[in-house]
Amino acid sequence: MTNCEDESQRVDYEYHPAAKVGDISEGEGKSFTVCGHVIGLFLSEGNYYAISDFCPHQGASLSGGYVEQGRVMCPWHAWKFELKDGSWADSPTSPIRCESYPVRLVEDEIQIGIPVKE
Ligand code: FES
Repeated sequence: MTNCEDESQRVDYEYHPAAKVGDISEGEGKSFTVCGHVIGLFLSEGNYYAISDFCPHQGASLSGGYVEQGRVMCPWHAWKFELKDGSWADSPTSPIRCESYPVRLVEDEIQIGIPVKE
């Protein structure tokens, strides 16, 4: 359970192993399918992030994009997304965004949180 103040906004996550520490190099992303979700898992400045691996513009794989300073640039048309929350860095107030997923480390295993449907 996340620590949200608004009960209606609470989301439960179930964590699933996706990769091991060392599988992803600093400044890179890789695509994983976890429970049917195609997810780009990134390592930027020592932190792991997980967002949808489909660019909301025309569907490019964001895991193949250029990663820098907590952002990924889409390899097709250079839209940029914040890795921490999937927001569109070029237009932060836009509703256009990528779904983001929580990431946790359990020993050397990188686990991604998938929302639990009620
Ligand atoms: S497909 Fe990603 S910017 Fe166009």
